[in-house]
Amino acid sequence: MSELAYLNGVFSPIGDAKISIEDRGFQFGDSIYEVIFAYGGKLFELDAHLSRLRSSLDAIDLHYDFDADGLSGAMREGVRRCEFPDVMVYLQITRGVAPRNHTIPDGISPTVVMTFKPIPLVDPDLHANGAKLKTFPETRWANCYIKATTLLPNVLAKSRAKKAGYYDAVFVTEEGEVRESTSANIYVVEGKSVVFPRRDKSVLHGVTQRFLSGCMDAMGLTAEEGLISLDRLFAADEVFISSTAIEVLAVTSVDDKPILSGQVGPISRGLYEEFRRRARS
Ligand SMILES: Cc1ncc(COP(=O)(O)O)c(C=O)c1O
Repeated sequence: MSELAYLNGVFSPIGDAKISIEDRGFQFGDSIYEVIFAYGGKLFELDAHLSRLRSSLDAIDLHYDFDADGLSGAMREGVRRCEFPDVMVYLQITRGVAPRNHTIPDGISPTVVMTFKPIPLVDPDLHANGAKLKTFPETRWANCYIKATTLLPNVLAKSRAKKAGYYDAVFVTEEGEVRESTSANIYVVEGKSVVFPRRDKSVLHGVTQRFLSGCMDAMGLTAEEGLISLDRLFAADEVFISSTAIEVLAVTSVDDKPILSGQVGPISRGLYEEFRRRARS
């Protein structure tokens, strides 16, 4: 078993894969990405990830026909070759290499990179005890539905929250509207209803979030989009976040104020278990 890279059609050890210092992904953050997990060799929700990849590519005018390039076949091949039982695939597509100029040049080919690594272990205490979040001003751009690699606000917010002893930061607008955490979608539970911010341009449309709607149905919960104010968040029965990496994670406090009892609630726990059962079956 070994960690692997894929760069423009060629597999290699990660340390051997090199890209140019004139790559626009490096110079401008002119690139998009996906993180996809494979459980037991099977890529989870691959079609949903590829559909989001397509919309990110379209949104930044990056013309790359990944079907013609055999991208999903290469992804499966990487998962097979690295031999880890559960694999984290990181995929990044940059505009390509060109002399530095803001204008998008004609005729360049994208740089297509993948890495294949074991799925990072999540501390079991985190799922047992829940996460503490800190609010952070929404400083990101207006197109967070694009899974772009320009993540500096997320990097700063998460790092500052971590340094201050929190698990993550949650972006809140000047008007008090809760958006999402630096790397996960957020939800409030009100009785049997699970509310999450509208899937408009201001948040990433999570693949985990979409998959969770089936889990919610099975648990007799209704899922609805809505505006989540900070007051609504603090009045919720439960709060949780979701992403490919942490699946479903209960939030027990925000800015040191406990959510209800400050314990992991039954709906967050139930959804986590239901999600894991379905994702691995
Ligand atoms: C800002 C943000 N929101 C939400 C998500 C959750 O998306 P997904 O469930 O597709 O992993 C992520 C995942 O990286 C993210 O970075």
